[in-house]
Amino acid sequence: MMNGKGKGPLSIEQNPKKQRKWDWGKIGLIEGGYVLGKRDEEEKFRLARVIKTEPIKMPPEEFQVHNDMHYRYYVTFPGLDRRWDCFISRENILVDQEQIQAAIDDYETSEKKEKDEKSTIFENDENKGMDEKAVQLHINATKVKNILRIVIGDNMTPTWYYSPYPEPYHSVETMYICEYCLSYFACREEQVRHSYKCQMYHPPGDEIYRCDQLSVFEVNSSYERIYCENLCLLSKLFLDHKNLFNETEIFLFYVLTEYVDGAYHFVGYYSKQKESVEGYNLNCIFVLPFYQRKGYGKFLITFSFELSLIEGKLGTPEVPLSDLGFLSYLSWWSQRLADLLLKCEKEEMSIDDISKETAMKLTDVVMVLERLNILRYHQGQHVIFAEKGYLEALYKLAGRPPLAITRSCLHWTPYILPGSNKMPGPALAPAPAANNHSSMSS
Ligand code: ACO
Ligand code: ZN
Repeated sequence: MMNGKGKGPLSIEQNPKKQRKWDWGKIGLIEGGYVLGKRDEEEKFRLARVIKTEPIKMPPEEFQVHNDMHYRYYVTFPGLDRRWDCFISRENILVDQEQIQAAIDDYETSEKKEKDEKSTIFENDENKGMDEKAVQLHINATKVKNILRIVIGDNMTPTWYYSPYPEPYHSVETMYICEYCLSYFACREEQVRHSYKCQMYHPPGDEIYRCDQLSVFEVNSSYERIYCENLCLLSKLFLDHKNLFNETEIFLFYVLTEYVDGAYHFVGYYSKQKESVEGYNLNCIFVLPFYQRKGYGKFLITFSFELSLIEGKLGTPEVPLSDLGFLSYLSWWSQRLADLLLKCEKEEMSIDDISKETAMKLTDVVMVLERLNILRYHQGQHVIFAEKGYLEALYKLAGRPPLAITRSCLHWTPYILPGSNKMPGPALAPAPAANNHSSMSS
């Protein structure tokens, strides 16, 4: 827009009206600019980029200039996953051009090094299959978390990413979620009122596994559409996947609960396509943050392979994996193969045998064996070469042993799509027998 004198547009500094609104004082914290920031007092300052500035409280009209202390700043930390993005106050921001430039230089060097290492070791590209424009569109549309925390059951947890909850819940700082039906509420009172009416104390669907306190329910999204949509919205708060929102009807959901004080408390879930051309046996896995690092993620992965063994199919997770998904799978795969080789009594075992025994796809078996440095190429063929001590060390290094699945407690028949004349293949592993623990137990 031109001004009256025809001298071109007014700059922000020249325009007194805009200046009142956008003057960041002497510091100049502009959206898109780099600063040094920290999430709380305990942390050290690190490179941060201001994505959004938002008034904490509008200053009274008589203030000619807004002080930058009146704002909070939504920042992203280059080099860290987007789940660390958050609002921080001005006290946790440092603006020193020299230090900022040094931090930018450090970041650029470490990013280049990481890229080089990734391309030589193993690539888990979170944007695989997407062009740059689609990735950028996703980042722009989801760059600010719309819900900052959730309260579910007796727990509160900060969220990690944007999730497309509908209006008017699209943008609330605290979301209250019923842990049984996963309905969501913008205020505590509504949720409390709901809890008096809610008839559910476990997920819908069939309980297909129960052992001690753990149960798994199979939920068919064709019959429980709302529940499954709520499940996807909830997990999207912790998943930065770009293409999560396919039609939910094509999935079955396996919901893990912990039975305490007469109710089944939601722990996490994984989804599985009713029919997967690509051979995926798990599409999306999620464990509530306050239940994480207790072995439930690996339990769900074991579960997905147990179902594949019963179906007589080989399985693999949908790619790309998130960073935590990749770490969890790597830990599970490594322990599964190390455990199998340690217990193997046969004189010879081919990669094909390993694949059939575990229900892991051949390419995954080869990738993991190579990564563990126990697959050698000798006289024109692959040979697995590993000493007992080395395998034991690998097993330990991969983390805590996964929670065992008691096969006799699993009651499941494979889902057959209506109208499909396909029958499940023969079971890959021996049929479940009473008190027969999975070979993963230790
Ligand atoms: N830092 C380092 N290592 C980790 C971390 C972490 N934050 N989280 C998991 N791991 C690794 C560890 O090796 C761990 O084993 P250990 O604890 O014995 O050392 C192993 O992965 C798995 O740990 P579990 O306790 O079995 O897994 P958890 O219950 O924490 O659940 C999950 C893992 C489901 C990936 C969880 O982190 C989550 O829900 N994340 C958000 C959603 C997500 O990213 N899902 C995966 C998307 S990819 C896909 O769905 C195909
Ligand atoms: Zn409810």
